[in-house]
Amino acid sequence: MNQVDYLRISLVDRCNFRCQYCMPEGADLTYALQQNLLTQDELIRLLQSVFIPVGFTRFRLTGGEPLIRPGVVEIVRAIAQLPETQDLSMTTNAFLLADMAQGLYDAGLRRINISLDSLQPEVFDAIIGHHGRSRWQQVWDGIQEAYRVGFNPLKLNVVVIPGVNDQEVLDLAALSIDREWHVRFIEFMPIGNDYLFSDRGWVSSEDLRQRIRDRWGLTDGQVRGNGPADVFKIPGAKGTLGFISQMSECFCDRCNRMRLSADGWLRPCLLNETGQLDLRTALRSGVPLHELRQQVRDLLELKPQINYKERDSGTTGTYSRTMSQIGG
Ligand code: GTP
Ligand code: 5AD
Ligand code: SF4
Repeated sequence: MNQVDYLRISLVDRCNFRCQYCMPEGADLTYALQQNLLTQDELIRLLQSVFIPVGFTRFRLTGGEPLIRPGVVEIVRAIAQLPETQDLSMTTNAFLLADMAQGLYDAGLRRINISLDSLQPEVFDAIIGHHGRSRWQQVWDGIQEAYRVGFNPLKLNVVVIPGVNDQEVLDLAALSIDREWHVRFIEFMPIGNDYLFSDRGWVSSEDLRQRIRDRWGLTDGQVRGNGPADVFKIPGAKGTLGFISQMSECFCDRCNRMRLSADGWLRPCLLNETGQLDLRTALRSGVPLHELRQQVRDLLELKPQINYKERDSGTTGTYSRTMSQIGG
């Protein structure tokens, strides 16, 4: 059985973008009340007294958009300083990154994954649901600054949607050639976005790889990471190409993670809400930490049965939350 030692920690359920695939227009979004977010102290207490003792050592900060969480730099510092932390990373849309990259690095963050779905400002703005002055340049500046500061590996996440950005796949793949940037193509998943998904469908990683092979060739690659990406590279490129293929391939049997929502629910599987634990309420109502540890241990035991396995059945799991609220 897989060791489950990777915790994705959502710091806030809100986002300053409205990506069509993640929080579609018209989606019924309700946000956690401020007082229901785990505080920094509560989060660190849970890590020290519950998650680390049961074996978690790798942490990723997500959102919504983690950089809009007040005190995010301090949270990074506190987690980076825990002696048991073996890996700490963040997934961000980079809109606020240009001004924050150095501070995050100095606080101990060393690697970062950034969503970048298009190199064309108009397409980018349409995907992130923004009207008005383009946001693309500010995101691009954030990526450049993260690179300058020294984040490594620096990964760029592309959710590929037919007819929206799939014609840019080669341009995006080319970003991995001259710089040590790791570009990852993610198969579009139906989570709370049924309309867009049934309208557009998805493109398989193998289809993308074939296009890239035809243009440059493709060999095996390697990059540090805890996720499900299959890694390749364009021959001679400085960076790699990753493919996250949750639609065409089931990687649930090698799942190594759980998710902690901003309001303190522990979720054992992205695609299934069964078994969720409300750690915030338990913590605040004084349930002893050794009992919480036992509950998390029990959930780890159950996880292989909870992991979503019906990929081919066309069903889409159980969600009362959008991807933005789960943290990807
Ligand atoms: P690395 O440690 O750098 O490999 O990060 P990662 O790939 O785990 O993190 P990131 O936040 O960049 O995730 C990229 C995408 O992978 C997510 O947005 C999801 O689309 C997909 N993904 C991550 N975890 C899971 C999972 O447990 N199940 C499924 N189906 N997809 C996942
Ligand atoms: N399908 C695939 N990936 C998604 N993400 C958000 N929604 C979806 C979806 N429906 C990805 C974002 C980001 C990560 C946290 O989640 O692109 O990289
Ligand atoms: Fe877009 Fe990420 Fe915000 Fe979702 S959480 S709307 S993918 S930037």
